[in-house]
Amino acid sequence: MQNSFFNIADYKIAAQQAMSEGAWHYVDCGADAEITKVENATAFEQIKFIPKRLTSHYAPDLSTTVLGQKVTSPIMLAPVSPLTLIHEEGELAQARAAKAVGTIAMISTDCHYPLEEVVKEAESLWFQLYCYGDRSFLKRMIERVEQSGYKALVVTVDCVILGNRERLLRHQFKMPDTVKMGNLDGFFQNQKEQLVSGSVERIKLTWDDIRWMRNQTTLPLIVKGLVHPDDAKIAADLGVDAVVLSNHGGRQLDHSIPPIMMLEEIRSAVGDKIEVYIDGGIQRGTDVIKSICLGANAVLIGRSYIWGLAVAGCDGIVDVMRIFENEMRKSMIQLGVDRIQDLNRSYVRQCY
Ligand SMILES: Cc1cc2nc3c(=O)[nH]c(=O)nc-3n(C[C@H](O)[C@H](O)[C@H](O)COP(=O)(O)O)c2cc1C
Repeated sequence: MQNSFFNIADYKIAAQQAMSEGAWHYVDCGADAEITKVENATAFEQIKFIPKRLTSHYAPDLSTTVLGQKVTSPIMLAPVSPLTLIHEEGELAQARAAKAVGTIAMISTDCHYPLEEVVKEAESLWFQLYCYGDRSFLKRMIERVEQSGYKALVVTVDCVILGNRERLLRHQFKMPDTVKMGNLDGFFQNQKEQLVSGSVERIKLTWDDIRWMRNQTTLPLIVKGLVHPDDAKIAADLGVDAVVLSNHGGRQLDHSIPPIMMLEEIRSAVGDKIEVYIDGGIQRGTDVIKSICLGANAVLIGRSYIWGLAVAGCDGIVDVMRIFENEMRKSMIQLGVDRIQDLNRSYVRQCY
């Protein structure tokens, strides 16, 4: 990659130039006045480091594990759809990039290419389930996910109805015909229009559905889209393996609290019983470090890797990960920490 990209913000500027106006708004938008989308990121600015001196060996190791699987850094690629709106290789590029850097990509139900095709691209993919139809449809989807070799099932629970994405209405956004929903062919009429307009029918999930899913699969089960400590506790009690603290990148309920502000409380609600991941507004290596200090096992990035995908496909995502990892290494040396496992609460102070 050419070296004119020094940080994720550089990629975002180039991505806007590379993308169609519609695709740009689709990705960048949040719900209503987009307050939460912005605050997800600015909340990180209000967490300050308290470095320790003369303790580092000056060669930090970023590797860690998620659900027993080794990853080269605690940064995973969030489920995002439809990625072919941004680049023709879509989630194939997402999966290839994850393989190239040694991390996990979560593949969305709404992906363009059928899940069986995407899974061939990498060894460590997790499948993100949107709950359409009824339980027999879900059962069939879960069987497909298991049989094709995904390593975990991520159920998204914060998108049962679509948020009020006002910006898309204002710009009369229409999903291009080139974008397909490869897993849902024939499932519902005019699927793309429904996805954009918000009339898409998803199951009105309850905890009973999560209990049911737990019994349907032996794959690790992750619930994505919680911010309330009570919910994290229920998930842990139901035998879920991990939760993702998330407000869907501010695309659902505006004025929802930034996940990073709830992380410590959620960690203390679930203890060490389950793994905790977080997403929303992560654009810097320091954001990742702060998340780990406050109790996350790992983070997910969404828009940050989409900007890389828009600029240079798989290579762009790989380069975005390189930027994150470089920033993390430099910051950990200055913080006085050599290993991800040694980051803890004592290195940060929340100033909100
Ligand atoms: C364009 C776009 C599409 C998304 N599609 C999905 C999806 O299909 N499934 C899902 O669980 N989350 C989806 N999300 C939410 C992301 O997984 C993630 O929670 C969010 O992007 C994190 O915030 P960030 O973009 O600030 O990093 C989407 C987000 C964006 C921006």
